[in-house]
Amino acid sequence: MRGAACEGGSLSARSVFKIYKMDGVEVRAVQGVDLYMEPGDYAAIMGPSGSGKSTILNIVGCLDRPTSGSVCVDGMDTGGMQEREMAALRNRCIGFVFQSFHLLSRTSAVCNVEVPLLYRGMGRRERRGLALAALEEVGLGHRAEHLPSQLSGGEQQRVAIARALVSRPRIILADEPTGNLDSRSGEGILRILDGAHERGITLLLVTHDHAVAERAQRIIHFNDGRIVREERPGGSSATCCQGGRKELCDEPV
Ligand SMILES: Nc1ncnc2c1ncn2[C@@H]1O[C@H](COP(=O)(O)OP(=O)(O)O)[C@@H](O)[C@H]1O
Ligand SMILES: [Mg+2]
Repeated sequence: MRGAACEGGSLSARSVFKIYKMDGVEVRAVQGVDLYMEPGDYAAIMGPSGSGKSTILNIVGCLDRPTSGSVCVDGMDTGGMQEREMAALRNRCIGFVFQSFHLLSRTSAVCNVEVPLLYRGMGRRERRGLALAALEEVGLGHRAEHLPSQLSGGEQQRVAIARALVSRPRIILADEPTGNLDSRSGEGILRILDGAHERGITLLLVTHDHAVAERAQRIIHFNDGRIVREERPGGSSATCCQGGRKELCDEPV
């Protein structure tokens, strides 16, 4: 891996901007975001539609590059990386969960879960064993051969989480993972994500729902492409801890 090493932490963005140019019109989706997560942190991002939540998640998740600024994942600066290196870092360190599940529709649950392992070049038997174990973990071992269309929304999202967890990532990024689900299915999904956090996974979750965000240790509020406030559920609301560095957050406001 060629990316330069960078300061510790699980995930960080420093002075990140993302500017889209469409027909000569600029859309400033992210405007100077600093975000820092220690290994094992659990943070939620909230904010109005169009405030840049998905854009920043995709950038720290190496699905997209910033227009300027730097991103570090698991101690590696992604700035100088080629696409192939970014993809390898993503595959090694990050699991994604999306609002609309993003499952391959023509293939079974277990084959969907195998996909990240396929990219790693793992053999078929080993792949199948790990994928079935991941489906068991989310309570869907008995649905392994079902197609996504034969599963409920909550079950499809559990398959997507199994796919995110199967490669034992250190980071999970979830973009409105319960946005398309009824509250009961949503609760099941959130419990699985809470469990991943309890096992030490760094979890960054975008949500519209304050009750969902309150499960996290930190709530980061976005508006107009910027972090406008950070709150600690059950604790003080602190604008001084933008960027999430513990030494700043622990200061009295
Ligand atoms: N690929 C793109 N091309 C142009 N504009 C985009 C693109 N992706 C997002 N945007 C714009 O960037 C802004 C932030 O989008 P997004 O991060 O998806 O917001 P959120 O997830 O908070 O709803 C919006 O104004 C959106 O229209
Ligand atoms: Mg979004």
